[in-house]
This record gives sequence, structure tokens and C-alpha cells, in this order.
Amino acid sequence: MNILGIETSCDETAAAVYGNGGLRSHTLHSQIALHAEYGGVVPELASRDHVSRINPLIREVLAQADLRPSDLDGVAYTAGPGLIGALMVGASVAAGIATAHGLPLIPVHHMEAHLLAPMLEDPRPEFPFLALLVSGGHTLLVNVQGVGRYEILGESLDDAVGEAFDKTAKLLGLPYPGGPHLARLAEGGQASKAWKFPRPMTDRPGLEFSFSGLKTAVLTALPRAQSEQDRADLAWAFQEAVTDTLAIKCSRALEQTGLTQLVVAGGVGANKRLREKLGELARRDGLRLYFPRHEFCTDNAAMIAYAGWARRSEGRAPTGKLFTTPRWAISELLPPTPVTA
Ligand code: KG4
Ligand code: ZN
Repeated sequence: MNILGIETSCDETAAAVYGNGGLRSHTLHSQIALHAEYGGVVPELASRDHVSRINPLIREVLAQADLRPSDLDGVAYTAGPGLIGALMVGASVAAGIATAHGLPLIPVHHMEAHLLAPMLEDPRPEFPFLALLVSGGHTLLVNVQGVGRYEILGESLDDAVGEAFDKTAKLLGLPYPGGPHLARLAEGGQASKAWKFPRPMTDRPGLEFSFSGLKTAVLTALPRAQSEQDRADLAWAFQEAVTDTLAIKCSRALEQTGLTQLVVAGGVGANKRLREKLGELARRDGLRLYFPRHEFCTDNAAMIAYAGWARRSEGRAPTGKLFTTPRWAISELLPPTPVTA
């Protein structure tokens, strides 16, 4: 079974083919340069760029996989959540290919695809596992019992963790997208008594997150940052506060559920300090830790093709109705399956 995956939910245009033997091909065009001068994603520009990029990318992945469209067994596309105009480009192209070749259309939830991205790697985690999903729009701790069987244990009450990185980076005058730039600035920083930030919501029980206060704390501290070293130390202190908070909540969730595998997914999963801290946690508590490679942490179509393939393999793919939706809670994905810890 070969599934074509199409991703156009935000500022990456991507295509991939996943088959029974694994990932057959994947490619991506990033719009970072297009949006950089505006300091963030401009939805209209994103949609237009997807229109001009997607077909050549699909041709490329099919050629790499040595397949013709008629050799495919389904077309998976990101149906949401995301920018509606951008989503509609991928959905329309997917529907066109599916109709022309009589293939099933498989709408994919973007966050479910992030959640399953570690399954693209070798070794891959086995169900059940705890997933920390950290992207520009989401911060979730999920008990993953199987494909489509997700129990949300905790989420952010306000800013997503990637959003907190991006907004703080903006305060520091760093270019879009801020997360990786802030992480790079922090590499030149070190622990300093001058900059101390809270670890939000770790002083009380529970698995919820809140990151908007941290951004405000940085804003208040910023006028004291006089030198380039001060700015690097401040970025370091912010990154420490965020990554400590994530590690504390992961440890708590693992203890609470008795799960022994931790999977990290989403763009912030590319953060080196987060990887180091979760690595320490895994060594300390004898856990198995899984990170997708950097390019499968951030948006890509390999994870969309995989999610489509996994859902069809399990016979749980939603029937091929074409739809897109800008907002879509992962908890609404399938009739919730009771999950026992
Ligand atoms: O998953 P993703 O590519 O897109 C979605 O939001 O779905 O995640 C993008 C987010 C952005 O907020 C970006 O700044 C953040 O991931 N990010 C990072 C790093 N690389 C990407 N944040 C911190 N450190 C990084 N190295
Ligand atoms: Zn994403």
C-alpha cells in the first residue's frame, strides 16, 4: 500500500510517499524567506506560494519513489488545524488526484501526524507511550494507546510553547521564526544570577502549562539587558525556564500513568536543551526516549503520509469526504476510546 501525503497547513509545502516498507520519498519547500520580512506568516502569501509549489513537489516525490499516480492506494492531506486558505490548496490538489485516479482521500489531523512522526524512525516506539507535543500552536501531553486512541493529560492554558519562544524572540529583536534564533542566541549564554524566571505551574499538582507569564517576565527584564552577553544570558534563562517546566511535567505524567516510553514531537522538539534535559530524565528513570529527526519535528509531509497509511492500515481512516477546518481539537478526532493507564 502506497500513500501520497500532502502538507500545506502553514508555511511549508511538502509531499511524501509512505509504503508498506517504510518512507519511500519526501520533499519540502519552506516559505521562511517569503515571510521573513513581515516578521510572521502572511496567510494570503502562504496560500499563493503553496499553489505554485505543490504540483512540482508531488511530481518529484512520485519520481523518487518510482511510482505513477495510478500506482497509489490513497491520497492523505492535512485537513486541519491550520490556515484555512493554505489547507484548501492541499485539499484541492489531493481531491483532484484522488478523483482522477479513483483513489481514496484521507483527511489527516496535523497534530495527530506530529504525534505519530516518531514512527518514521528506527527504532520506533511501541504503543503505549507518553507524547510531549510541542509546536507553534500546541503544547500537549498525550497518553497514546494506539493510532486514534489518545487521552489528553495536559495542555497549555494560554500560549503554546513554540509561540512563547517566537514572541520572546521578537521581544529580543530576533528574526522570524524566532524559536531556533532564540536557541542559537542562548548557546552563547550562561547561568547568571541577573536573570531568573519562574517555572510556571510546577509549584502545584497537575499537568497543565502556562507560558504567557514567562514572555511578560522577559519583557519586564529586557531593559536591564545592556550588552550582547546580557541578551544571550537572558535567552539562556528563558530557555532554561521553558525546558525545565516541560521536563518536570513529563516526569510527572510518566509517574502518574506508569508509562515508560516518552516520545517528543513538534517543532520545539528540535530544541537541543530540551533534548538534553529529557535525555537526563530518561537515564535517571530508565525510560526509552524517542525524538524524530530534526526535519520530521517541524512540519513535513512524511508524517502526513504515515498518518494516512497508519489509519488506512488499521481500517480507521475517516471516509473520504473532502473537508478542511482551521480549528480541530485532537480530542475530537475519533469517538474517544476509553484509555486505561
Ligand atoms: O511543528 P512546527 O514546525 O509548526 C507548527 O506549529 O505546527 O513548529 C514550529 C514551532 C515554532 O514556534 C518554532 O519557533 C519552534 O517550533 N521551533 C523551536 C526550535 N525549532 C523550531 N523552538 C525552540 N527551539 C528550536 N530549536
Ligand atoms: Zn506542525
